[in-house]
Parts: sequence; structure tokens; C-alpha cells
Amino acid sequence: MKREIQNRTDVSLLVHTFYDKIRANEEIGFFFNETIHDWDSHLEKLTDFWENNLFAVRKYFGNPIEAHNKVDKKFNQSINPNIFGLWLNLWFETLDELFVGENVDILKRRARKMGTFLMVNIYENRKKT
Ligand code: HEM
Repeated sequence: MKREIQNRTDVSLLVHTFYDKIRANEEIGFFFNETIHDWDSHLEKLTDFWENNLFAVRKYFGNPIEAHNKVDKKFNQSINPNIFGLWLNLWFETLDELFVGENVDILKRRARKMGTFLMVNIYENRKKT
């Protein structure tokens, strides 16, 4: 029986299940597997990020723009909208598999917006380098 996303435990399950899919994905898994070495702390950070996003708890203080610009640099400016599309498909798939309700729609919308924002920033950043 699928539930609503109600608390940090739900967000943590979402994040763990999502990154299992990401890591196993043949097209985009390597970006993550070759960059993230401490998975426990990455998953904790991303749980903070999405919990912050949904429940306004002020736990995440990172800089996603800078993080993704660095990843783009590391992989020779190879990040493109298709890669963000694959990321979003897995995000939507995981949300729909595990949960129902308004917060599912909110997290789909926020990720879509953020993906566009990060991609535009990556293009902007390339002009500077
Ligand atoms: C809407 C889409 C995405 C969202 C919301 C998102 C969100 C995040 C966040 C919040 C972090 C942590 C940043 C920090 O504070 O250190 C992160 C890290 C990371 N993301 Fe994304 N991301 C998205 C798409 C992607 C895509 C498409 C890629 C593939 C290239 C990617 C690769 C990474 C990697 C490798 C890290 C780890 C960076 C590091 O620790 O050095 N992300 N992402």
C-alpha cells in the first residue's frame, strides 16, 4: 500500500532507493560512481536537501550549482539536457513506485525546475572557463 511522504524516514527511503537506481544505470551511473566515494554521507546530505525542500527544516547548507559545475568540468563538459532527463525519469519512477499524494507532485516539480536551473548554470559556467 503506497503512502504519502510524511517525514524524514520517508525522504530517506526515497533517496536511498533513487540512488540505487542511479548507481546501477548504464548511461549515467558512472558520473556518480566515479565522483562519490563516501556514499553514506552523500545519502545523508541528499536526505537533508530533500527534507529541507519539502518540510523547510534548514538542514542543508551546500552549494548545488558549484557541485554540478565541478562535475561537468571533471567529465569534460559532457553533461547535457538528456542526462538531466534520464536523472529526472529515475526520480519520477522512484517517487511513483514508493509514494502517492501531493508531496510526490511537489518533488517532481521541484526537481524539474532545479534540473533546468542547474543545466543553465552549467552552460553559463562553461563560458567563463
Ligand atoms: C534535478 C536534478 C538534480 C538535482 C536536484 C541534484 C541535486 C544534487 C545535490 C543537492 C547535490 C549535493 C551538492 C553538495 O552540496 O555537495 C548533488 C551532488 C551531485 N550530483 Fe546532482 N542533482 C541533479 C542532477 C544531477 C545530474 C544530471 C548529475 C549527473 C551528472 C548529477 C551528479 C551529481 C554528483 C556527481 C554529485 C556529487 C558531487 C560531489 O560530491 O562532488 N546530479 N546533486
